[in-house]
Amino acid sequence: VTSRDVKIEDKIYQADEWMNTPSIILSNIPRRLHLQQDHPVAITRQLIESRFPDYKTHNNLFPVVTVGQNFDSLGFPADHIGRSRTDTYYLNKSTVLRTHTSAHQADTFRANESAGYLISADVYRRDAVDRSHYPIFHQMEGARVWDRDALDAGKSFAQTVWEDVAKIPKHSITVEDPNPSFHSERNPLQDGHSAEEVEAMGAHLKRSLEDVVVAIFNAAKSAAADAGETPDTPADEPLKVRWVEAYFPFTSPSWELEVYWQGDWLEVLGCGIVKQSILDNAGVPNKLGWAFGIGLDRIAMLLYWIPDIRLFWSTDPRFLSQFSSTAPIQRFVPFSKYPACFKDVSFWLRSSTSAAGGLSRNATTTSHDFHENDVMEIARDVCGDLVEDVRLVDEFVHPKTGRRSMCYRTNYRSLERTLTNEETNELHGRFCQQLVEKLGVELR
Ligand code: PHE
Repeated sequence: VTSRDVKIEDKIYQADEWMNTPSIILSNIPRRLHLQQDHPVAITRQLIESRFPDYKTHNNLFPVVTVGQNFDSLGFPADHIGRSRTDTYYLNKSTVLRTHTSAHQADTFRANESAGYLISADVYRRDAVDRSHYPIFHQMEGARVWDRDALDAGKSFAQTVWEDVAKIPKHSITVEDPNPSFHSERNPLQDGHSAEEVEAMGAHLKRSLEDVVVAIFNAAKSAAADAGETPDTPADEPLKVRWVEAYFPFTSPSWELEVYWQGDWLEVLGCGIVKQSILDNAGVPNKLGWAFGIGLDRIAMLLYWIPDIRLFWSTDPRFLSQFSSTAPIQRFVPFSKYPACFKDVSFWLRSSTSAAGGLSRNATTTSHDFHENDVMEIARDVCGDLVEDVRLVDEFVHPKTGRRSMCYRTNYRSLERTLTNEETNELHGRFCQQLVEKLGVELR
């Protein structure tokens, strides 16, 4: 067991063999883009917060949490894929960088400071490298509860909630909501929750979030209109929004909201009725309520027409000077598109059966320890923000040896300048070398 200390701001953690967090991630923890004045992620946060004036905001929660907070308290099964070291950054066996703001649900319910709350924070996931994925992004969690033991005389829980539904601003968009609010197999009610109670809380949740989405997309549309109509974005195209059924271990029933944007249905948030076990364990078993989680970076990209998620991390004034929390939203004007340069790398995966020699019938066991996210991480580690995209372009299994070959294409591009040939060759050379050293692959 290797043991070493990891210092994150003023806290020290003892790393063990679970540690898989590279220094490039650790060094970006202090950035807190959701709090940076006039940053598009911060402006998006403020825009959403303004739709929930009575909710208590928590914007400074520390990103290092326990496995208990991030997974156990929310009812994630022991074998859930989200817990794996290929998907989540660990510091040690019981400590992770939070993968979602839901990690703070149980503690916030336990603190019991307000009926409604919003938590905005940086979250961390090992993932693909492309223009809409970055290992650090930002989420906002929202929740609202009602107390069954504190109802006005003569009013039922459902009546109380419906009165709050009536206070949410009205909107005029058409929302598709084809499914029943709950379904005994696909999206069940919880024990102890009546249909009336869930109908009322579901309506409050859906109306609240529709109000947010209307506010966001109206702001985005006025930006588009200011920039002039283009064929794929007629400025007067009505906003199309739909609710779909979903699943989360910590809500039931659960839903997702999708918005039609430039020809595609985009999933913008997940939500549902909070699992009663979470409220029971948090010492507030008399409360019932809903929660949602929304990704701020993707929303900010839509709002401002930002073409690449890496731009959020830029400190270039040509980027940052284009945003203001007091001015109306305007489309981002790319300052330049510097040339891209792609390079391929092909390799054989380490073969655990080749030692047996000859014909292996057990080809699948040769690659059981390979995970694409490891390739992505090496690319980020070597190239930082100079890599735009990494993707698998070819894969095959040798018919005789059973060995698997992969070919990845890496697109190199700086957002701020033109890369020289020597630079790209040097980056690619180090990338290939790290693939060999860290993953044990054999270059072809
Ligand atoms: N935490 C969920 C995610 O990251 C989103 C969510 C939050 C869903 C709260 C339901 C309730 O995908």
